Amino acid sequence: MLVDTHCHLDEYSDDELEIVMSRMKNHVMIVCGVNAFTNRRVLQLCDTYNNIYGVIGIHPEEIAQVKEEDFDEMEVMLKSSKVVGIGEIGLDYHYTKENMEKQKAIFIRQIELAKKYRMPIVIHSREAIQDTYDILCQYRGQNLQFILHAYSGSVEMAKKFIDLGVKFGIGGVVTFKNAGRVKEVVETISMDHFLLETDSPYLTPEPYRGTKNKPYYVKLVAEKVAELKRMPVEDVIKITSNHAISIFRLPIKLNRSEENK
Ligand code: NI
Repeated sequence: MLVDTHCHLDEYSDDELEIVMSRMKNHVMIVCGVNAFTNRRVLQLCDTYNNIYGVIGIHPEEIAQVKEEDFDEMEVMLKSSKVVGIGEIGLDYHYTKENMEKQKAIFIRQIELAKKYRMPIVIHSREAIQDTYDILCQYRGQNLQFILHAYSGSVEMAKKFIDLGVKFGIGGVVTFKNAGRVKEVVETISMDHFLLETDSPYLTPEPYRGTKNKPYYVKLVAEKVAELKRMPVEDVIKITSNHAISIFRLPIKLNRSEENK
């Protein structure tokens, strides 16, 4: 059983979704919201499909439109048993640094929400790794679980995050020819700290780069990690699925044949 720990299924048409669901029948997806509208769609998908769980949050690129009631609505949604985390939240300085302070405030506000509801936190960090690190440092020793999604930093920085108990979401970028840093992170850091993800419909792995990503391509990510780690792909899948089950507290048990693999 594969777990795609990060995808945006709200960006698929009904026909596309049908194909995804048929190919992911025996697998699990964690769907991430990015604003009030997509958070509602995440809840709908969770209600419709047994093997979909949700993570809800306000993404840093969405904060211009954020309203006070969006946070109230999130608190209600967090009571659903299918909502297993807060995300994707974080910092993104790629397009603008002008709203840095607002981004930080909204990031921190949602970490506090996660703390209140004892939820893991799925983080988006683009061109903001140091500020992300500084904020997480404020929560050192508080038993919060952070997942740094699509990590693209250095090995050295990864080690600093590991000291804070952070896990890394590894996705399609690891299959790219120019993904030197991510490959080095996967080769160097222990499997203990990794989860698999696709970020569908973005960051499509090779050999499908340039087309719309799908959750079932998570298998290609697993294969690449296995190659870099020189270990059987079954082991990569088993280890990372177990991480997802324990971090997001998914009510799933791997069956015996998978455990023995
Ligand atoms: Ni994402």
